[in-house]
Amino acid sequence: MRYHIITYGCQMNVHESEKIAGLLKKHGHKEGVGIDDADIIVFNTCCIRDTAEKRALGNIGALKKRKNADKNLIIAVVGCMTQQKGFAEKLRAVYPFVDIILGTNNLSLLPRLIELNDKKNAVKIEQDDTYDADAPVETFRTSYPNAWVNIMYGCNNFCSYCIVPYVRGREISRKPADILAEISFLLDGGYKEITLLGQNVNSYRYESFDFKYLLSKIAETDKKFRLRFMTSHPKDFNRGVIDVIKSSKNICKHIHLPAQSGSDRILKLMNRSYTSAQYIDLAAAIYDNIDGALLSTDLMVGFPTETEEDFDCTLGLVERCNFSQAFTFVYSPRAGTASANMPDLSAEIKKSRITRLIKAQNKVTKAVSDGFKGKTLEILIEDERDGRLVGRTDNGRLVSVEKSGGQKIGDFADVKILSSKSASLEGVFVGE
Ligand code: SAH
Ligand code: SF4
Ligand code: F3S
Repeated sequence: MRYHIITYGCQMNVHESEKIAGLLKKHGHKEGVGIDDADIIVFNTCCIRDTAEKRALGNIGALKKRKNADKNLIIAVVGCMTQQKGFAEKLRAVYPFVDIILGTNNLSLLPRLIELNDKKNAVKIEQDDTYDADAPVETFRTSYPNAWVNIMYGCNNFCSYCIVPYVRGREISRKPADILAEISFLLDGGYKEITLLGQNVNSYRYESFDFKYLLSKIAETDKKFRLRFMTSHPKDFNRGVIDVIKSSKNICKHIHLPAQSGSDRILKLMNRSYTSAQYIDLAAAIYDNIDGALLSTDLMVGFPTETEEDFDCTLGLVERCNFSQAFTFVYSPRAGTASANMPDLSAEIKKSRITRLIKAQNKVTKAVSDGFKGKTLEILIEDERDGRLVGRTDNGRLVSVEKSGGQKIGDFADVKILSSKSASLEGVFVGE
């Protein structure tokens, strides 16, 4: 049968979809050209914000007519959304035509349930909270020249607004030997960039091995490749990691370090375990020690009780930290989290703040980009769009270059930057 997977949410989910695809391929299913040609449709969902959830539910609902007309169509809903308390029952009530609901921890059941479903049109709902972090997984990767590699699963931080620890469970780190073997296999297979994945990679720990050890171990190879990692947490990102990055030619000089807010009062309510001064110190240490480093972040507006003064502190942080990019979010209460019972601010206040925040960050983003004009930088070519090749600098800036010679996706190339467009740059290949 032909499958089609729709992915919502973070990179973790994008990679999980690669694993789902691998699993389905292994069982003889084929990738569908599009959703309309698929016999199996998998929704790999996210519930980090209300909007993510609504989008997925809307798309599932839109299949009702098609499913009624085609009883052989198999619809599976998997991923974070399904792990919420009572979700499976709720989904069964609203969309009884959904065939399979699976939690994030038991995706390996999918092929078997499809098989059962195919024969008996049975409905199976399976959820549990155990995860075998070391189980070998066949992965159908689609992100060449980059490959995502999980180093850990789950989260222990319980930021007061966040549903991830509830739906993904506690932190489990993979064995260093397994991670190293996977990466060495990928590099031998021609991958040029490895991105380590975890909700808080800095708290990676397997027996006596910590993140610093893992990073330096992975980076020590004669092969030319780029090593990235996400996401870091300011409370755990230590100076030791800075030293490892500084002394390695393979580890990228780009750190994604979510700040969330610039107000100490709000950071405390968020249970983030750092102050804005500590964040600023860390940012300064990164900039001072890692030559050419860029810092990106996540920022949230409209957390319960946030005042204009609190919000001004976030704007201040944007100015102060010179973020190359910021992913900006409007707070959305998530059932079961600590902040869900606090009074939600009005939609007007949130809208006004997100608009002002985006405007302030856009100015900084543009100024960072303008600083690259005239420079020659190495890019790794990742994509081809409209006759142009698109790559990324070591420190994470996107660069679009007119295709001219024999360059192709997966090549490293030197580019002279001619102009900048907010978050991206344009250039020409050097030596042509
Ligand atoms: N583990 C990472 C990413 C978590 S999810 C981290 O700790 O930063 C990605 C981003 O979604 C978060 O950084 C946060 O800014 C945002 N987010 C999480 N919960 C949210 C909520 N309830 N409402 C709005 N944004 C939220
Ligand atoms: Fe959520 Fe905080 Fe964990 Fe990130 S560190 S996943 S924001 S609880
Ligand atoms: Fe990621 Fe969304 Fe789950 S952000 S961890 S897919 S809730």
